[in-house]
Amino acid sequence: MRVLNLKFTLLASLLTLAVAVPQSISPYLVKEEILPPRGWVKSGRPPPDHAITLRIGLPQPNFHVLESHLYEISDPDHERYGDHLTKEEVEDLVRPHPDSLDAVNEWLYSAGFAAEEINRSPAHDWVLLTIPVSKAEDILDTTYHIWTHTASGDSLVRSTRYSLPSHLHGHVELVQPTTMFGRMNAHNSAIFSPFEEEDVAAPLAQTVPAGTLDAVDPSCNTTITVSCLKQLYNATDYEASNTTKSSIGITGYLEQFANIQDLQSFYAEQRPDALNTSFKFVSVKGGLNNQTLSEAGAEANLDVQFAFGISYPVPGTFWSTAGRPPFIPDTRTVNNTNEPYQDWVDSILGQKDIPLVISTSYGDDEQTVPENYARRVCASFAQLGARGVSLLFSSGDYGVGDGNANPATQQCFTNDGKNQTKFIPVFPSTCPFVTSVGGTQNINPEVAVSRFYSGGGFSNYFDTPDYQKAAVSKYISALPKGLYKGLYNQQGRGFPDVAAQGDRYRIWLAGKPGKIGGTSASSPAFAGFVALLNDARFKAKQKPLGFLNPLLYSKGVAGFTDILSGSNPGCGTPGFNVTKGWDPVTGLGTPNFGKLKEIVTKQY
Ligand SMILES: *[C@@H]1O[C@H](CO)[C@@H](O)[C@H](O)[C@H]1NC(C)=O
Ligand SMILES: *[C@@H]1O[C@H](CO)[C@@H](O)[C@H](O)[C@H]1NC(C)=O
Ligand SMILES: *[C@@H]1O[C@H](CO)[C@@H](O)[C@H](O)[C@H]1NC(C)=O
Ligand SMILES: *[C@@H]1O[C@H](CO)[C@@H](O)[C@H](O)[C@H]1NC(C)=O
Ligand SMILES: *[C@@H]1O[C@H](CO)[C@@H](O)[C@H](O)[C@H]1NC(C)=O
Ligand SMILES: *[C@@H]1O[C@H](CO)[C@@H](O)[C@H](O)[C@H]1NC(C)=O
Ligand SMILES: *[C@@H]1O[C@H](CO)[C@@H](O)[C@H](O)[C@H]1NC(C)=O
Ligand SMILES: *[C@@H]1O[C@H](CO)[C@@H](O)[C@H](O)[C@H]1NC(C)=O
Repeated sequence: MRVLNLKFTLLASLLTLAVAVPQSISPYLVKEEILPPRGWVKSGRPPPDHAITLRIGLPQPNFHVLESHLYEISDPDHERYGDHLTKEEVEDLVRPHPDSLDAVNEWLYSAGFAAEEINRSPAHDWVLLTIPVSKAEDILDTTYHIWTHTASGDSLVRSTRYSLPSHLHGHVELVQPTTMFGRMNAHNSAIFSPFEEEDVAAPLAQTVPAGTLDAVDPSCNTTITVSCLKQLYNATDYEASNTTKSSIGITGYLEQFANIQDLQSFYAEQRPDALNTSFKFVSVKGGLNNQTLSEAGAEANLDVQFAFGISYPVPGTFWSTAGRPPFIPDTRTVNNTNEPYQDWVDSILGQKDIPLVISTSYGDDEQTVPENYARRVCASFAQLGARGVSLLFSSGDYGVGDGNANPATQQCFTNDGKNQTKFIPVFPSTCPFVTSVGGTQNINPEVAVSRFYSGGGFSNYFDTPDYQKAAVSKYISALPKGLYKGLYNQQGRGFPDVAAQGDRYRIWLAGKPGKIGGTSASSPAFAGFVALLNDARFKAKQKPLGFLNPLLYSKGVAGFTDILSGSNPGCGTPGFNVTKGWDPVTGLGTPNFGKLKEIVTKQY
């Protein structure tokens, strides 16, 4: 290490002459260090030629400017409401300082990289290098190990500490994969129930009685269809057109793809006018689209069938982002960077036209995502919001607990070495720039889902944003004094923001109909209605809704049906209760599309 550092410092000073960048001889200092996360053990060293893609994040010194634009253009009381930024404007606002670009370039050139080996995001705020792990160890003065997750047997190549020359500390925010131990696995999908096959001829709510909420078909109390959601959420008399610019997208991970034949079976049953229509498939980093009927993903099929079924004929897109299989010691070419949200967001930020409403039904225990990394991913979501995109995420299925269905084995302990008992919030729902969707069930009354529990609570990373301060403080101040003290962060971003039906969804999977649930269902369903709201705004010659929360917590409140019963147990506690007004179980409540449409098509 030492020798190498010296060598490249020398080279660097030569280079300095050429590019005229000030260069100090600076020693390596530790940039980040973590304790090995619980449940992972070291199991050897990766082959030196194992390839990894290093992602180097440069600071975005004007992010606060982007953020203030975002809040202005998302505030219905502001004159700039709806005045979204262009791709170029957003890129300018997240561009690193030229000194940071120079310092990092100089470092990489002096370490022997050629310009064409260095890839960059469009705003140059990320540098991407695909290199052998031995080279990564050199430039980060670190040692990578194979770490194995004892419970699942999955392995990752990671380090628990890395360093950078001290003069770079202010010019690099983070480098991954290093300390990121999050795993993208089936548990990250917010699907709860196994698929329960049902009779093809099961009685379903088909007819669409126009009119009042009281007329909801009784079958909707046990089986949710597109028609049920339209009845329940007061959208039966709305017809979207295929000529506005409204659009909707669903993200898929873990090699899941949505099967088109299943979609046709679903449409035949629940949305006959959509028969023979489909969606646009986009592969990110080699995400699969194997249309073999038996291999369709339950999550992908659920999301696509309901989001597109509700919003038809609004055009739909489905992204499949490669799942980054875990490290297999004898395969040297595996890319297990395991950072799918960022991979996906990079890929769409690079596009000029982005679907205006996007739903994602995946999440991680917040503490398994390093804070600096979570902040960067969240900042990317702010960029999408600034460009007029509404982002919806499911809030998780395990109440205030960690992503473990069995309450007896929930691990509600901090990962930071202190092993404190704490509720475990879910990221990206805790990012203040996205809209988090919790789950409900039943009709008359609709209550918080109780076969599993809506993820909800408060972030340990992100502060309560202004738009929800009044709602959150009202909720917290009404709690019994001292309740759950130390278990949750009273200053944290509260989630979910809203809710929608979360269980007993009738879908088609592998050629058969059946029922499935999870807040995985709530998010795409809510997204479907947002796409209809955008359609209505376009018809009224208005801009798309973009980042929703400042609207939802202000003028939007009147467009929700407050849920008044239920809770979200977890971590061996009864969790939070649903209350009048916002609560960290069902948020502001479920949408009343008709009322929301009136609210959002007023002239602002
Ligand atoms: C829906 O089901 C719940 C529980 O199964 C029941 O309490 C409620 O009365 C039912 N509502 C209707 C309208 O049938
Ligand atoms: C829109 O709908 C009309 C009639 O329903 C149909 O003829 C037309 O092909 C559709 N256009 C697109 C772009 O799907
Ligand atoms: C869908 O396509 C099939 C086969 O091409 C055709 O027989 C059927 O009439 C079409 N249905 C609709 C509703 O367009
Ligand atoms: C899909 O996967 C199956 C099994 O893995 C394989 O037999 C089939 O050829 C694949 N189909 C496509 C279209 O790639
Ligand atoms: C690994 O990443 C490299 C660079 O991004 C890419 O070219 C290659 O196809 C990836 N390999 C796999 C197996 O995904
Ligand atoms: C953390 O604390 C819990 C209970 O307080 C205990 O069961 C567990 O073994 C502890 N874990 C570690 C890693 O110390
Ligand atoms: C929830 O409601 C129950 C019953 O009313 C009450 O005992 C409990 O303290 C409440 N919990 C919270 C977190 O408010
Ligand atoms: C449904 O929406 C319409 C506006 O489209 C509104 O006038 C009506 O009051 C709503 N119905 C209910 C029951 O909220």
